[in-house]
Amino acid sequence: MCGIIGYVGKENATPYLLDGLSRLEYRGYDSSGIAVLSDDGTINLQKCAGRLENLRKQIGALPPKGYCGISHTRWATHGEANDENSHPHFDQSGKLVMVHNGVIENYQKLREVLEFQGHQFVSQTDSEVLSHLIGAAYDRSEEKGGESAERRLVAAVREAVKQVTGTYGIAVMHADAPDFLVGARLGSPLIVGLGKGENFLASDVSAVVAHTSDAIYLNDYDLVCLKGDEFKVERIDGGMADFQVSQVEYSAEAAELGDYPHFMLKEIFEQADSVENAFRGRLSDQEASAKLGGLQMTPQELRDVDRIVLVGCGTACHAAMAGEHLIESLARIPTEVEIASEFRYRNVPMDKNTLVFVISQSGETIDSLGALREAKRKGFRVLGIVNSVGSTIARESDGGAYMHSGPEIGVAATKSFTSQYMLLTLLALLLGRMRDMSVSDGQEILREIRALPDKIRKVLQLNERIKEIALKYVDAPGMLFLGRQFNYCSALEGALKMKEISYIFASGHASAELKHGVIALVTEDLPSVFVAPKDSVFKKNMSSIEEVKARKGPVIAITTEGNDELDRIADEVIYVPETIECLNPILSVIPLQLLSYHFAVARGCDVDKPRNLAKSVTVE
Ligand code: AGP
Repeated sequence: MCGIIGYVGKENATPYLLDGLSRLEYRGYDSSGIAVLSDDGTINLQKCAGRLENLRKQIGALPPKGYCGISHTRWATHGEANDENSHPHFDQSGKLVMVHNGVIENYQKLREVLEFQGHQFVSQTDSEVLSHLIGAAYDRSEEKGGESAERRLVAAVREAVKQVTGTYGIAVMHADAPDFLVGARLGSPLIVGLGKGENFLASDVSAVVAHTSDAIYLNDYDLVCLKGDEFKVERIDGGMADFQVSQVEYSAEAAELGDYPHFMLKEIFEQADSVENAFRGRLSDQEASAKLGGLQMTPQELRDVDRIVLVGCGTACHAAMAGEHLIESLARIPTEVEIASEFRYRNVPMDKNTLVFVISQSGETIDSLGALREAKRKGFRVLGIVNSVGSTIARESDGGAYMHSGPEIGVAATKSFTSQYMLLTLLALLLGRMRDMSVSDGQEILREIRALPDKIRKVLQLNERIKEIALKYVDAPGMLFLGRQFNYCSALEGALKMKEISYIFASGHASAELKHGVIALVTEDLPSVFVAPKDSVFKKNMSSIEEVKARKGPVIAITTEGNDELDRIADEVIYVPETIECLNPILSVIPLQLLSYHFAVARGCDVDKPRNLAKSVTVE
């Protein structure tokens, strides 16, 4: 949940480190810091609580000078978000400095031992303990003599991390080893960016894509040594590591804000293209089906699947809930949804014909990764539906499908939801056409999928209308989101968007659940947002809307163009283009995304970096 970056090369490190932090701030923004090793062997360290601009102000006109440095943007796990707990952290000697992403679960015990040995700590963090542990190992190695400072530092990192229980992605440098960085990872992402005469370490490629598109995605227990013109990937237990150099699949400007005020709005408006990218090259007119070669399963293996488990967190879990409905209705395969953090500690009965999918935009969510590893530990086949190429979940899956959404920087997931929904539709279509779905039904789904991008563009033209609605209800103390069948997941997703960026209470429910308690919340100042397209359950939704209106609750309804039955009862009606029932959520969720966006902006919230949140939850 933190962002780290390291630079070593022929240029001054500071601009690269600060620029990298600005691209990683979505991973955590409680505090930030930078440390640069200058030519005279001193480490210039600057750090402070708050956003990156606080650090820039603190650095002011005197940026640290040097060709090797590390920096960090924090999401607090241990210790409040203050200056002392910011990274980087020194060791006891003040000659070693480290940044860390992850959680050292046994840090108290390690700290007690170090304090017994005379170490003094300045922070309450688990990370500082690791910094001291490495420094102590380095200082002890001095007595052995003979080894270079660089090899001693590598050995010290190896010795220290072996004592750790928990997760780490670290970058370390020492004043005795100028222009030399050591990185290591277990459970937290870490990549190497390979430049010309310069090399980078980073939590993800968005921090380096402006400087290089050549990246190495490190694996757990990898350790890397970097100089400006060379790198070495080793294993924590010794020996060289296997690695491959990958090409980053998107350009630097794809991760830029462009003319938009916020990444979230940019990514909402990218959905016509991102949904098209999700199905591009995956539609088969000849078979009236979908093509998902990345599943790496033969048609017979796919036919033998008699149960599917979909696993994810947050928005990915909502997509999984849609996936359950899609697969069961289009392919008639029993499907269940598991919240990743629950699945990994339950003992879900599965057998050799059960297929597990882990859904994750970042591909680094620790609970989803834990669920993947738990299922694989028991011998089950696990496939990934992931956006970040080369991410840990993608690499540890037995196959899967990339979403190809492009970088999603806004903490609130938007285009990743519609892309996940599209991939799950393609999966359901593929499996259905291997069972009892007819050619004509398959062809209809293909037609409607191809028509989606233009229909999404049409929905996006409602932006100003939805902004007006958001402003009208901007003082609402909370909001209910309701939908049925395929749009139950839309209601849940709409509620999550609203709560995570505007901080008001919002909850999503199956519409008919109103009668079972939820309607007690309805008052004249609590809007209910109904996703009520003209579908097989429209009349049922109408009844629920009537129940809310009978209690004077304001109703914002999303329905199908041409359907005027809500005009007389709903306070606001938003019309989206018609499509087949199973694809409607891809259109209906967009007004919900825009509603929460404008609502949050009107309330002065930081839409891209909501309080207490981070984009990728890599700690338990
Ligand atoms: C959704 O808006 C949130 N950002 C969060 O719930 C997110 O969906 C969840 O953390 C899962 O992230 P992932 O898809 O990267 O695994």
